[in-house]
Amino acid sequence: MSHVHNPQSLHQPHAEPAPAIIELEDLCFAYEQTPVLRHIDLSVAPGECVVLMGDNGSGKSTLLRVLCGLLFAQRGSYRLGGQEVSEATMRDTRFSKGLHQRVGFVFQDSDSQLFCTSVADEIAFGPQQMGLSQLEVERRVSDVCQLLEIDHLRTRAPYTLSGGEKKRVAIACVLSMNPDIYCFDEPLAGLDAKSRAWLLSLLKDLKAAGKTLVIATHDQSLADEVADFFAYMGEFHGYEDRPHVHINE
Ligand SMILES: Nc1ncnc2c1ncn2[C@@H]1O[C@H](COP(=O)(O)OP(=O)(O)OP(=O)(O)O)[C@@H](O)[C@H]1O
Ligand SMILES: [Mg+2]
Repeated sequence: MSHVHNPQSLHQPHAEPAPAIIELEDLCFAYEQTPVLRHIDLSVAPGECVVLMGDNGSGKSTLLRVLCGLLFAQRGSYRLGGQEVSEATMRDTRFSKGLHQRVGFVFQDSDSQLFCTSVADEIAFGPQQMGLSQLEVERRVSDVCQLLEIDHLRTRAPYTLSGGEKKRVAIACVLSMNPDIYCFDEPLAGLDAKSRAWLLSLLKDLKAAGKTLVIATHDQSLADEVADFFAYMGEFHGYEDRPHVHINE
């Protein structure tokens, strides 16, 4: 069960809360017979950054997969921009394409995200699936390659890249689709200090651009830098001075 402490509503008691872009209500999920997500209520307003924290195995990655429409709750509901996301609604290919366009997912393990023969093809894949013109696809590939400083990697096969390079390419693939919501699973894992600083500033830029961010991380300093609120998966003690919600308890 969640107890939401929205810091803005405390300071502006008469302000109308923005309608949530992500709304989970009593959401439960089990792999086979093993319950992982328990009665989760979570509401995220457009442009907010929520950081998911909790022990290994507490369900952070599972929750991100639910948000991205890769797994479906057995009980409760998930609404995205007011629309129900379920196995049934995702059978409509227009709806599921729309969701995958709207919610970008950067996996912890970049290898499970990269499958094309070249970096340029990899980044072009999403915009092509969106049905954009070849000219627009090429423009987006060029723009994100410049932004992420990976122009020199365009012709490389993704499996030959270093871990940090793969992470940049995986982020480029998501950026090229210009989603409203970005889900990052342990974004800083395996990155050196320079790449960490770069990624942190990218996350801040995305926030400044009004994007909604859901980030699963064990990195408290990242969380402190970007979170509007924390969602703790399972029992958690400490950090009582920060706005937070407790979920999955
Ligand atoms: N495909 C699967 N089949 C069965 N159980 C799974 C599957 N994927 C995850 N689990 C289990 O679900 C639980 C939650 O896993 P999840 O990966 O969501 O945790 P997490 O909070 O992301 O952990 P970590 O901090 O280690 O990344 C774990 O007990 C895990 O073993
Ligand atoms: Mg995880």
